[in-house]
Amino acid sequence: MSQSKNNLISDIAEFLDIDEEVYGPHTVSSIGSDTTQIQSPDRKAESDEYDSHPEPVQAEEPAPAQDAKKPQMLGDKLGACKTLEELKILCEEADELRTDLDGTNLVFGVGNPKADLMLIGEAPGQEEDRQGEPFVGVAGQLLNKILAAINFERDDVYIANILKHRPPGNRNPNPDERIRSLPYLLRQIELIQPKIILCLGKVSGTTLLKKETTLKSLRGQFYPFHGTELTVTYHPAALLRNPHWKRPAWEDVQKVRQRYDELRCKP
Ligand code: URA
Repeated sequence: MSQSKNNLISDIAEFLDIDEEVYGPHTVSSIGSDTTQIQSPDRKAESDEYDSHPEPVQAEEPAPAQDAKKPQMLGDKLGACKTLEELKILCEEADELRTDLDGTNLVFGVGNPKADLMLIGEAPGQEEDRQGEPFVGVAGQLLNKILAAINFERDDVYIANILKHRPPGNRNPNPDERIRSLPYLLRQIELIQPKIILCLGKVSGTTLLKKETTLKSLRGQFYPFHGTELTVTYHPAALLRNPHWKRPAWEDVQKVRQRYDELRCKP
């Protein structure tokens, strides 16, 4: 035997002696053609941990690379909202729903979440922004009277707006603001599933019907809209300014009540 082999054997023997002193007597657990495993009982766990021939581990499915990096698309985020509460949280986080007026509150919508009649106005005004609820100012008081005249409590219906934040100076929502807000409103409509939508004013009617035309030419008809029927009448604020429109508005809401009863809507 060569000198170097002798040295190696004596090194191993010395190592085993020291090891036995520390961990107790060794057992030879298997002797194979190419491996001899020497175990001391107290190191079992350790040896398992450092098993040099582990069972093949099922490789984990790599997560699609894009999920980690790519921001979730708006359609996916909206689709993931299964309740109005979840949608409201998403709206609270959405900067794209804001106008260029700083510090406004979200005016999400109010009323019966299962309403068969949904009313959609244009955008919150100062009082709506302050209270976080649509149609609570002067126009809202007239709206309550209109609803009462056709036998609805405010709580029977659901009320929302095209915009969920107040525009500066109570100006009309601009086209860009309307486009940014629309997907959120459409998801809100999907979750409520009303049978009839009543648009209050030209901005609401033209935005939802995607038709740039006069209110006069839109009103008086029911349009199929995402599985519901949509109709348009004068905005209550316009009725306050121009009493001549009260008669046609009255005819419009009478038709809404009639259609509501025909469709056996509740309550
Ligand atoms: N006008 C609207 O269109 N919506 C409101 O909420 C208040 C006034």
